[in-house]
Amino acid sequence: MRCFKAAVSIKGFLCHSLLIFTIWLSSFQGVDALQETAGASSLISSTSVHADSPISELFEPIEISPAVIPQNPYPQESLPPMNPSVWNTYDPVLTGRCPMNFSAISSVINRTVSDCFAPFAPFLGNVICCPQVSSLLHIFLGHYNSNSDQLVLSKAAASDCFSDITSILASRGANSSICPVKALNLTGGSCPVKDVTTFEKMVNTSKLLDSCSLVDPIKECCRPVCQAAIVEAAVLLSVGGSTIAASSTVVGQPSEVDALSDCKGVVFSWLSKKLSMDAANTAFRVLSACKVNKVCPLEFKEPSEVIKACRTLAAPNPSCCSSLNAYIARIQNQMLITNRQAINCATQFGSMLQKGGVMTNIFELCDVDLKDFSFQGLIMNVGCLLRSLPADVVFDNFTGVGFTCDLSDNIAAPWPSSSSMSTLTLCAPEMSLPALPTLQKSQNPGYRSSGFKFVAPIFSFFVFSILL
Ligand SMILES: *[C@@H]1O[C@H](CO)[C@@H](O)[C@H](O)[C@H]1NC(C)=O
Ligand SMILES: *[C@@H]1O[C@H](CO)[C@@H](O)[C@H](O)[C@H]1NC(C)=O
Ligand SMILES: *[C@@H]1O[C@H](CO)[C@@H](O)[C@H](O)[C@H]1NC(C)=O
Ligand SMILES: *[C@@H]1O[C@H](CO)[C@@H](O)[C@H](O)[C@H]1NC(C)=O
Ligand SMILES: *[C@@H]1O[C@H](CO)[C@@H](O)[C@H](O)[C@H]1NC(C)=O
Ligand SMILES: *[C@@H]1O[C@H](CO)[C@@H](O)[C@H](O)[C@H]1NC(C)=O
Repeated sequence: MRCFKAAVSIKGFLCHSLLIFTIWLSSFQGVDALQETAGASSLISSTSVHADSPISELFEPIEISPAVIPQNPYPQESLPPMNPSVWNTYDPVLTGRCPMNFSAISSVINRTVSDCFAPFAPFLGNVICCPQVSSLLHIFLGHYNSNSDQLVLSKAAASDCFSDITSILASRGANSSICPVKALNLTGGSCPVKDVTTFEKMVNTSKLLDSCSLVDPIKECCRPVCQAAIVEAAVLLSVGGSTIAASSTVVGQPSEVDALSDCKGVVFSWLSKKLSMDAANTAFRVLSACKVNKVCPLEFKEPSEVIKACRTLAAPNPSCCSSLNAYIARIQNQMLITNRQAINCATQFGSMLQKGGVMTNIFELCDVDLKDFSFQGLIMNVGCLLRSLPADVVFDNFTGVGFTCDLSDNIAAPWPSSSSMSTLTLCAPEMSLPALPTLQKSQNPGYRSSGFKFVAPIFSFFVFSILL
């Protein structure tokens, strides 16, 4: 029998409360089972969580009474933790043509296996899995070439090694095929420079190393240091190197954009050779997070029903709100997103509504929160926004599989307006922070006193992520 259970443990963490969701599956049958059960009635509802975390305790460790945690109706032994090392693993079938000792990078492979654990991969792909897969490929390149002057692989070797990497991940229960990477990513593509000697002649390597050995997750996304150094190096390689390559190889001019993007891959490979595996992985993940947070990954269909129901509206209107809720329920099926992506999504969606003539802030009228844009079903309708610098998915013998959500995410979705857009700039850490607002949800949906409630918590994600 299929069984899907969730338990919630809440830890106070300095001023920042995190909700750590843990999911056990006793008999897991893949994504189908997950989706089937995700719609089933919650064992623990969001209201019970929030009801047990009164506002006065916001900055203190929040205790949840054991009574709230669902009792396990089955004997403990029948609920083995969902661990990819015991779950559905087999010996990978390798091509035998990729001369790489994969155990040298097993720690990065293990992270990738957790982050791309197949049942969750579609929901976590954009934010956690695919950034880690990219990082794995960069680190693989650096290690594959650790004793040679090369920074990339030949096409044939790339194809074999890419296949081996995919097989290894799949054999451990991970699905990397959802990610937009391919064997050609290992070849350096149209970048004219592919070896260490030429690279180090063209690039200010000490600057590059200084900029990327220790990436500050807070500053990097606003005032890029490592990213800027990588782009600078990639530009030098793609422009400066083109004269070297022009005479020899390429038939048909590759576009400069491709060359720049391919040269970034070469720079990543060089960094992977020079940095420790942990430093490289951390740096690459921070860079990915910056990129990921800039855009809303959700797809919005034309909200014509919502526009029709909400266009002329002065007061809360049940048909407008139900139409809006129905629309949001559909988009929130897509994936888990970060708190900053949710701001982008709310802004993007709000602009679509405004273009259609909805001028009232219906997010406020209908009590739409940021977390309403993120996938709900995975964790029993509790709702979860990932942190803007998402942590890895972790496997734990005792608790199973877990990932970290922000607890402070029941904050109002921002309604775009010319004046609020500038305050949405998240890149002003030196700016004095507004006083922390209370996160108390109005008992009466439809009335919320301040449209700016979201600003301070978002800044606090920003600040507290130093501590986490
Ligand atoms: C692969 O690397 C691991 C550790 O890095 C080492 O213990 C092992 O002997 C290596 N295997 C081969 C075949 O070189
Ligand atoms: C990676 O996982 C494998 C299988 O679970 C384990 O044997 C290996 O020790 C792990 N490697 C690291 C570096 O944690
Ligand atoms: C893989 O290649 C594509 C197209 O060249 C590029 O857009 C993408 O960023 C590359 N990914 C990685 C991880 O290098
Ligand atoms: C991996 O994910 C893709 C896209 O969701 C899916 O089509 C494919 O069947 C999955 N593969 C495995 C082995 O789970
Ligand atoms: C490399 O960059 C550093 C600053 O990061 C600069 O001081 C140094 O002069 C540069 N070296 C060269 C050869 O341009
Ligand atoms: C995890 O569980 C396995 C099997 O139940 C056990 O052999 C192993 O020692 C456990 N590891 C830890 C770190 O508790």
